Amino acid sequence: MTIRTCICVFLLCLLPNCAAATIPIGMFRTECQDRHFWLSFKSNFLGQSFRFDVEDGTGVHTLLGQAAAECGYNMGLDSWGNLVVRVSYLACYVDNENDSVFRLLVWLVNRDLEGVETSYPLQLTCPLHHPWKPREIICEENYMEVSAMKQVPPANQTGLEWMPAPPVSSDGGLREWRVVFRVPSDRPEGMKEQTLPVEMAHLLGYRIGTTDSRVLLRGSYGSRLSYKLQEKGIEVEVVSATLLHKHHWTLLRADVSVACSISKASMDGDDILLRFPRVLPPLVPPPVTNERLRLGVDGAALSDCIVRQRGYDVQERDGLVEIRIPFGAEGGSIKSQVVEGQYSQSFYFDLFYMHQWADSQWALTEYRSFRPLSVLYLPRTPILINETSVSEGQFSVTLGSFPRDVFLTNITVGEQSMSWGEAEQMGVHLAQVPYPNGSHAYLLQSPFSHSLVSQKYIGEGYRRYTLALTFTLSVFPHSDLYHHPANLEADVQDVVLPNVTGSCSSKGVRLQLRYGTMDSQWEVYLGGRRLDWELVELGGYALETRWDYFSMVVPLYALGMDYEGLSLHGLAVTVSMTLEDKQTSKKELSFTQRCVFDVKELLVCLPDNTVLVIVDSSSVTPPLEPNLTTLLDPSCVPVETEGTRSLYKFSLDSCGTAVTLEEDHIVYSNKVQFWPTAPFGLTHIAPNPRFSIPVGCIHPVNGTRTLTIYQPRALQAWPYIRSSHSQHQHPGTRPHPFIQGRKRNRLPTGPLSSEVYPYLQHTHPDHHDAGGSWHHRRRKLGWPGVQPLHNINELSVE
Ligand SMILES: *[C@@H]1O[C@H](CO)[C@@H](O)[C@H](O)[C@H]1NC(C)=O
Ligand SMILES: *[C@@H]1O[C@H](CO)[C@@H](O)[C@H](O)[C@H]1NC(C)=O
Ligand SMILES: *[C@@H]1O[C@H](CO)[C@@H](O)[C@H](O)[C@H]1NC(C)=O
Ligand SMILES: *[C@@H]1O[C@H](CO)[C@@H](O)[C@H](O)[C@H]1NC(C)=O
Ligand SMILES: *[C@@H]1O[C@H](CO)[C@@H](O)[C@H](O)[C@H]1NC(C)=O
Ligand SMILES: *[C@@H]1O[C@H](CO)[C@@H](O)[C@H](O)[C@H]1NC(C)=O
Ligand SMILES: *[C@@H]1O[C@H](CO)[C@@H](O)[C@H](O)[C@H]1NC(C)=O
Ligand SMILES: *[C@@H]1O[C@H](CO)[C@@H](O)[C@H](O)[C@H]1NC(C)=O
Repeated sequence: MTIRTCICVFLLCLLPNCAAATIPIGMFRTECQDRHFWLSFKSNFLGQSFRFDVEDGTGVHTLLGQAAAECGYNMGLDSWGNLVVRVSYLACYVDNENDSVFRLLVWLVNRDLEGVETSYPLQLTCPLHHPWKPREIICEENYMEVSAMKQVPPANQTGLEWMPAPPVSSDGGLREWRVVFRVPSDRPEGMKEQTLPVEMAHLLGYRIGTTDSRVLLRGSYGSRLSYKLQEKGIEVEVVSATLLHKHHWTLLRADVSVACSISKASMDGDDILLRFPRVLPPLVPPPVTNERLRLGVDGAALSDCIVRQRGYDVQERDGLVEIRIPFGAEGGSIKSQVVEGQYSQSFYFDLFYMHQWADSQWALTEYRSFRPLSVLYLPRTPILINETSVSEGQFSVTLGSFPRDVFLTNITVGEQSMSWGEAEQMGVHLAQVPYPNGSHAYLLQSPFSHSLVSQKYIGEGYRRYTLALTFTLSVFPHSDLYHHPANLEADVQDVVLPNVTGSCSSKGVRLQLRYGTMDSQWEVYLGGRRLDWELVELGGYALETRWDYFSMVVPLYALGMDYEGLSLHGLAVTVSMTLEDKQTSKKELSFTQRCVFDVKELLVCLPDNTVLVIVDSSSVTPPLEPNLTTLLDPSCVPVETEGTRSLYKFSLDSCGTAVTLEEDHIVYSNKVQFWPTAPFGLTHIAPNPRFSIPVGCIHPVNGTRTLTIYQPRALQAWPYIRSSHSQHQHPGTRPHPFIQGRKRNRLPTGPLSSEVYPYLQHTHPDHHDAGGSWHHRRRKLGWPGVQPLHNINELSVE
């Protein structure tokens, strides 16, 4: 327990030429500690510059540097910039009343920018609460001090009673005293002695004094007659000295040796580790008994219970005392920093350590050590805790922990930076989570379905939700920014794939795509072409869109339809629809609808030079047997016949096919014909065939040959449904989930238009462009190969 002193704040100016003021409440704090005055002044109270003066009966003394150390004053700024002062009860200028009440009058002098000084006096009075031990050692930050009980022999030595006592001066005869310092030497015995009068020792930086009951030696570290030694690998600084003085006629000696460990602390994992020898041999003639170790902070010892509670640890190992203070432990202070983008922390801990023992020379020694520990700029990457819950469908993450000087300013998702308030408005939940130890963390929660969460299909019905965000934290007081990225993912099996079904109708091939649960993920391909509005318009697909599906009728011969085969049963075509993952281009779903359309007559030119053609002879009277028709080469007969129709399949380089070159096209022509059978021996009587239909193909000289289908001109055009007939439930402005691109208003300049071209024609979709221009050339050429189909009906009217 520390006892608060009674503070008398002077309101009167005691010094000439100065302004004395009262320190505002809350700007300072004082305590009477075991052997110290303890004072602290708030950083915001300290002026542009400040000074610490002490006044005693002899005047005002300014304490600085070395002189302050030698006098028993320790001053420093803590991590928050507050001034902290510790003054030994045995320090210079302290009014010592019989070693039991101590008074100190200090002046804090603040100087402002204009150089005007304001002085604040503080009178401190501290009564002693724990009696002095025979020997007390203090290892301060800047000095070593030892005080020992004066050992006065009994004054009953017989035979000396008649002698008058020698006069004793006011300083207790100090001037006549001698100090014997022992310092290492090259000589075999290792040490040499150096005896100096007290004044001389004073000049060397040693304060030697006496009080009512004690003698005292104090020196700063690294003083002239100090030396260093290694004890169990730990560096120790020692001043080895004996005071000699006369008491009456007796020469008295007092051991005033002092030793302090000057080892540096180190980090061991997350702990600050400080080690020093348990016993300092220059001070301790064994055996050592009655030992007690205590730990504390800010100059005051704490109970073992609190020490344990705060996680401080003291262990004795191989003659060493090991003290561990966990980084950030209560009692210390943490300061956050951002160093080259890395979040770091500095930790300050003002360790107080007290050791008490008895040895063969001293009934009791109390050893106090003040060891301010600091760990600077330790990178401390905040910890992200993933509490995402798939069952609740939300991301949940905490980032922490942070001391009080850190606060969250913004989060960034993708490119979008938003403040706390904006994030809340957008439906991202942010909260500060306080911890009992005073630190805090930040909690962020967002549903998977949030628009800021990106989704990706990863197969087998799983989708990956990803929230890529960055926390932006600001560090007090300079608002340094620290960015912490967090990439959250959750794989959930919640994807229903679209379902494609198909059917054949009189108008074409109908495909229906029932929507799934991840419709923006898919790219739809129809017959290998990406389904976009251009294709819909070019192909003349009749589209119907509902909230849960869309359906599409692909007309016969339209783009996107594939030829499969021609027989007298009809024209077999397929339309295939595939769905690809937009991001991975992986084919997820493939559907093919096959349909057979009744055709009466049709001519198909295949790229491999094969021709398939169905001709109908029903219009010829009298009726003829279709199996009696042939090509120009009479050995080429139908592969199949039925009723009045016959199917030919032949290669363009056979069956008497004629080849002519017209500009950049090769024109192949042949004929399906019938020569009536003449009576035997009169073969040449019938001069004309009764039935003759020119058939043929046209292919480019160079370049790829394409599949082309011809229909007799006189036949009604296949029902052609313009996309303008399509039914859309949604207004056109809204993008279609499956059809890419913008819808155009203009009708396409497609190849299918019976108004422009007299023949319905189909080119293989892969060569749509070639087909388009091919039409054009064909018209210019006036290709004769088409005529026969066109002429069928004319011929039949014979
Ligand atoms: C000084 O202190 C001692 C021990 O505490 C006591 O015996 C003595 O009476 C005190 N003297 C004065 C002058 O207070
Ligand atoms: C002196 O006094 C002490 C205790 O006061 C006593 O133990 C010792 O015997 C005395 N010596 C003489 C020589 O009387
Ligand atoms: C404070 O408590 C939190 C939660 O228990 C912990 O994560 C953090 O490390 C603690 N901070 C310090 C400085 O001990
Ligand atoms: C925080 O976000 C706002 C926009 O919401 C932006 O104007 C501001 O610059 C951001 N602040 C930081 C520190 O990134
Ligand atoms: C976070 O938690 C979720 C749900 O438990 C898990 O799927 C995910 O892999 C975790 N990790 C990240 C980095 O999101
Ligand atoms: C698609 O839908 C049809 C009709 O509703 C159903 O019979 C079929 O099983 C579905 N296919 C898939 C892969 O879900
Ligand atoms: C042609 O077809 C008719 C009737 O189907 C059949 O009677 C005749 O034998 C066939 N002739 C030839 C040469 O196949
Ligand atoms: C076809 O290509 C050949 C060689 O590549 C060339 O000599 C010829 O002129 C081309 N014919 C036409 C009609 O383009």
